[in-house]
Amino acid sequence: MKYQAVVALALVVTISVTAVNGDDNLIPPRREVYDNGKIFDITHRYQPDMPAFETNDGIGQFLWLPKSMKNGSIANNSEMKLPTHTGTHVDAPGHVFDHYFDAGFDVDSLDLHVLNGPALLVDVPRDSNITAEVMKSLNIPRGVKRVLFRTLNTDRRLMFQKEFDSSYVGFTVDGAKWLVENTDIKLVGKHSR
Ligand SMILES: *[C@@H]1O[C@H](CO)[C@@H](O)[C@H](O)[C@H]1NC(C)=O
Ligand SMILES: *[C@@H]1O[C@H](CO)[C@@H](O)[C@H](O)[C@H]1NC(C)=O
Ligand SMILES: *[C@@H]1O[C@H](CO)[C@@H](O)[C@H](O)[C@H]1NC(C)=O
Repeated sequence: MKYQAVVALALVVTISVTAVNGDDNLIPPRREVYDNGKIFDITHRYQPDMPAFETNDGIGQFLWLPKSMKNGSIANNSEMKLPTHTGTHVDAPGHVFDHYFDAGFDVDSLDLHVLNGPALLVDVPRDSNITAEVMKSLNIPRGVKRVLFRTLNTDRRLMFQKEFDSSYVGFTVDGAKWLVENTDIKLVGKHSR
């Protein structure tokens, strides 16, 4: 409870500072590097024509402004609706295992210490999916906990194309098995800029 109170206070302070400044030249900060380079925001920009699973239509309109100051409301209020498996996201254990889903393993069951921290960015061969053989050839040192894999998906700019392309590069079963059995990696991500 105490923690929540502090957060609420910080929010109120931010709002009043903005209101007092009343600047005509407001430029929203869109930071990608925080805290002297310790945290990088690599979130892909959400846009209507980014891909959605197994459709050619992209995610479509996902953001509305039902209440706006321009139309006489006291505040701007947005509404958002989009599939949770869109753009930069993390998969919950329940995403692919029904018994985990039934038992309530949502994203809030994931460990934030695993999700945050130094990560290694690794280029993988462009002529293959991530197999056991590929994983072995990368020589990722023991102790490395988080790895982002840069694949052919990045070169092909798949995140910028509306049509879902099922030929995207990913882990093969033997590649995933090799990773679990031979590395200390706890977090796997796919680079896609
Ligand atoms: C509020 O919404 C309007 C559109 O009606 C937009 O032009 C304006 O920038 C928004 N203001 C803020 C503070 O987000
Ligand atoms: C304001 O309301 C008008 C009329 O309903 C609508 O056409 C317009 O899109 C609205 N503008 C915003 C920014 O919500
Ligand atoms: C990766 O696997 C997919 C699905 O089987 C396949 O369509 C694609 O061609 C493979 N990519 C490469 C680079 O081998």
